[in-house]
Amino acid sequence: MRAAPPSHRALVRQTYAQAATVSQQRPATACGLVSCQQSGLGCGDPTALADLQAGEFVLDLGSGPGFDCLVAAHSVGRSGRVIGIDLTPEMVSLAHHNAAAAGVSTVLFLRGEIERLPLRDEAFDVIISNCVINLCPDKTGVLAEAYRVLRPGGRLAVSDIVALRPLPAAIVSDLAMYVGCVTGAASADDLSAALHEVGFASVRIAIREESRSLIGTWAPGRGLERFVATADIVARKP
Ligand SMILES: C[S@@+](CC[C@H](N)C(=O)[O-])C[C@H]1O[C@@H](n2cnc3c(N)ncnc32)[C@H](O)[C@@H]1O
Repeated sequence: MRAAPPSHRALVRQTYAQAATVSQQRPATACGLVSCQQSGLGCGDPTALADLQAGEFVLDLGSGPGFDCLVAAHSVGRSGRVIGIDLTPEMVSLAHHNAAAAGVSTVLFLRGEIERLPLRDEAFDVIISNCVINLCPDKTGVLAEAYRVLRPGGRLAVSDIVALRPLPAAIVSDLAMYVGCVTGAASADDLSAALHEVGFASVRIAIREESRSLIGTWAPGRGLERFVATADIVARKP
């Protein structure tokens, strides 16, 4: 298992703590991250990919401010449950604040690392995640944990950044590009291999070509859109 270099993990926590604090103080303002979007910190729409049904139990890996959890809670209704888990205490607190403001009581937010989920086996129907797995060096470990807590027949629906080709050294060495969800991205082939390795079936990874123009704006002039794109990633536990 490949652990995050301590400096990278600490930097991720520090960066997202700051983003959460800024967001709580000034809702709907830019958070300063290269990949930040107005409504959240994600790069896609995993709740739409997941085709959530009433009564389902959903886990969001790296829930951040909790917006996908709130959408999921609406989809699964009062008989369903949603748990969001995040590394950064300030994000967990922001997510609680956002859920309370939205009047949603069927969502629980926990602090934790998605490489070591504090959750029992086969507890969830669906796992979603939005722009988080790229921040985890041990992608196989994350996917193995997702597999463990999914019930048989359960589904994984992830939006994330994937690498289209190797990045130039000047971008790889820029830590802002790591915490901004660029340089930690795996290729679609590597993700597919990791998903199969831990046991997933019906794996589909679709690159969203249209994401590349937005990605180009994250760091104007550096050509990011030639190297990474958003992908929709779905799989099923047999
Ligand atoms: C780019 S933000 C995305 C947040 C949220 N999914 C969204 O779409 O708004 C990445 C989030 O992942 C969390 N994170 C990064 N690495 C993590 C890990 N190993 N375990 C749990 N959370 C992690 C960060 O704290 C941050 O809140």
